[in-house]
Amino acid sequence: MTIRDNDGVRAVVWAGDRLRLLDQRRLPGVVEWIEATSAIEVADAIRDMVVRGAPAIGIAAAYGAVMAARDCGDDRLSLLAVFDQLVRARPTAVNLHWALARQRRVVDAAPQDLSGALLEEAVAIHDEDIAANRRMGALGGALIESGDVLTHCNTGSLATGGYGTALGVIRSAYGDGRIGRVYADETRPWLQGARLTAWELVQDGIPVSLLCEGAAAALLARGGISWVVVGADRIAANGDVANKIGTYGLAVLARHHGVRFMVVAPTSTVDMETPDGASIPIETRPAQELLTLAGRPVAAAGADAWNPVFDVTPAGLIDAIVTEAGIVEQPGLAGMHELMGQRA
Ligand code: MRU
Repeated sequence: MTIRDNDGVRAVVWAGDRLRLLDQRRLPGVVEWIEATSAIEVADAIRDMVVRGAPAIGIAAAYGAVMAARDCGDDRLSLLAVFDQLVRARPTAVNLHWALARQRRVVDAAPQDLSGALLEEAVAIHDEDIAANRRMGALGGALIESGDVLTHCNTGSLATGGYGTALGVIRSAYGDGRIGRVYADETRPWLQGARLTAWELVQDGIPVSLLCEGAAAALLARGGISWVVVGADRIAANGDVANKIGTYGLAVLARHHGVRFMVVAPTSTVDMETPDGASIPIETRPAQELLTLAGRPVAAAGADAWNPVFDVTPAGLIDAIVTEAGIVEQPGLAGMHELMGQRA
């Protein structure tokens, strides 16, 4: 297998009557799978970060819908109530809404074998995501001429159906010999960069250096970084992007230092119903996640914490949004409409 082909990790696996999820809270130290045997268990796994990353939680929810239909039988009201619980598991990533809207259309079509039809749709959502990532890898990878790159959070196989969004672009460009080294923010408080991105890249044999977010300015000032490459949880109609907290700061730094800034996300992450970044619901998680590290208190007793887990990068700071349907450079309302119109 060449590096370009490398996406051996699958974090979401349908097992006939249950969903197997690689527990992303325990990586890289412990590689452990949990089994969700109902839609409610899938919703819990999404809320508790067993499975995370915008496309991955959409895929998990789509399989959750299959178990919901199996368990609810003909009780349509109960079924839709379970869909509602899935959709409310996390508020920012629109992929969750998007995947369940697709499953809702299957329910509304009232096929004879509802569970079978929902499973077919879930598999399609999963397969389409991997195909989109491959396509984005090629499109976005071609924008990178040479140099090192900086990325944030985890956008790889673990966060998606497979291969990854921003990490797919990095895999593709590295495979073509156009990236020397990947710098990965550790990404407090869940350490998705340190625990997950580094884990994926080490397995691929791609050189990776971790940095704490506070080191990003010094890295960009030093030179040698050609692109900052990140994913997205929701892209508004005007091209504003919600992504892991700290992304906005990186975009400001990148603009200051003349480094280009790329957002990579499938069109399932684009929400044309949300006009701008200010309208995107931003998830705030418990203060405890910030006051502790690996379960141990790290802050002075009595301190509180503000823990928004996403922020919004204004479109004006973004050089390119890469989707499977094409690239929008210097994104704005017109470019996003053109992109999504072409797709329709
Ligand atoms: O809180 P998380 O780990 O679910 O946040 C994930 C991110 O912010 C990713 O950058 C985003 O979902 C894109 S993943 C392909």
